[in-house]
Amino acid sequence: MFNKDTYINRRTQLKSKLNKGVALILGNVDAGMNCKDNIYHFRQDSTFLYFWGLDYPGLAGIIDFESGEEILFGDDFTVDDIIWMGPQAKLKENAEKAGVEKTFPLSKLNDYITKAISQNRKIHFTPPYRGENMMRIGDLLDIHSAKVKEKASLEFIQACISLRSVKEPEEIKEMERHMATAYKMHTMAMQMAHPGKTEQEITGIIEGISMSGGGIVSFPVICSVHGETLHNHYHGNTLRQGDLLLVDAGSESPRHYATDNTRTSPVGGQFTNKQREIYEIVLNTINTTIKATKPGITYKEVHLLAAKTIAAGLKDLGLMKGNVDEAVVAGAHALFFPHGLGHMIGLDVHDMEDYNETLVGYDDEVKRSTQFGLSALRMGRRLQPNFVVTNEPGIYFIPALIDKWKSENKLSDFISYDKVETYKSFGGIRLEDDILITETGARILGDRIPIDVKEVEKMVKSGY
Ligand code: GLY
Ligand code: MN
Ligand code: MN
Repeated sequence: MFNKDTYINRRTQLKSKLNKGVALILGNVDAGMNCKDNIYHFRQDSTFLYFWGLDYPGLAGIIDFESGEEILFGDDFTVDDIIWMGPQAKLKENAEKAGVEKTFPLSKLNDYITKAISQNRKIHFTPPYRGENMMRIGDLLDIHSAKVKEKASLEFIQACISLRSVKEPEEIKEMERHMATAYKMHTMAMQMAHPGKTEQEITGIIEGISMSGGGIVSFPVICSVHGETLHNHYHGNTLRQGDLLLVDAGSESPRHYATDNTRTSPVGGQFTNKQREIYEIVLNTINTTIKATKPGITYKEVHLLAAKTIAAGLKDLGLMKGNVDEAVVAGAHALFFPHGLGHMIGLDVHDMEDYNETLVGYDDEVKRSTQFGLSALRMGRRLQPNFVVTNEPGIYFIPALIDKWKSENKLSDFISYDKVETYKSFGGIRLEDDILITETGARILGDRIPIDVKEVEKMVKSGY
């Protein structure tokens, strides 16, 4: 964890944003994989990590916005626990690391909340995303567990979003340092992109690199010769010469900050002309949009610039036609680019999306579109220095979507369906960097993973 001042400061800032009621911040508990004692790797709740930093199960934090009181609820480990787990610090010692003076046994949480409710005090909480905490909050607050999410506190969520959106210098340092692991994961995947290797082998190796670098993967690895399926978690294919291998993978730093990068490599080390033409459009899009990214611009504007760059490139290849600006307004590019340009990233790969994706990425000024494609943009709002976002354009040929649009003759003023037919087995290309918004522009975190055509080909060929 960071120094205790970090957590004291974050809680102080939170207290300056709300003045009524009590925040209830539950840590996560262990989750059994196939029985109680065989568990998934423990992952602390990100809100809990942000305000208290402690990374073990069975904790709850309380912040009283009226008295300013902060309490950590938890239990000391017993000798029975220690036999299995080794020596453990006492709750008091851990609380000290988070700068908290007051601790109570976990069993007292119920009494505390019951008393607060009897005093008609508002209990603020963020929407739980795991069953255990959903039931726990339901029991504590006497709400049916199915209704817990909708009772989450909007003002508390908004306060958390406003704090966590702007990354602190030590968070940026942690994220930047961990990009070295992302670099190793992706260059290894490139070097393994050879005929006869399997998606599963590559996935296993890069997950191992993540673990060796400090933590679990930040989301299930996407490693596929069918990159046109946006989140393809099937790893059963063997790579063949001529395939494109799309790897979208990230790692958690020791303090649980995520990386999220995508590269697409030619299996065997040589793009075909057809692949290179599409690749260069995506490459031009990521480079053009990074250059345009700066404080004061909305990420929706940057997304639309990506859409126009893609549409212009596809028009040059004869896959799209007509006026590019009009095509993008109509949403025609979304046949090839059906997702958004990016999302915030931090303690979560899609940062804070347990709160509500639209609350994180939009506000009173920038509203979420309902148009196919643009509606998938997670982050649309105006950028500020020290936001960290992903930049991840892509071009995909999704046979089912092409068939559907073609059968409807959809937006045929902008799409050359005959030409598109000849790309139906092409697959997909996505490129993704993690970028920090600076005072004047934006920069890629860490050393850029090879991305230019020649660099990628060279990296693949340097493998085996
Ligand atoms: N890893 C999923 C994404 O790029 O957002
Ligand atoms: Mn990704
Ligand atoms: Mn991403």
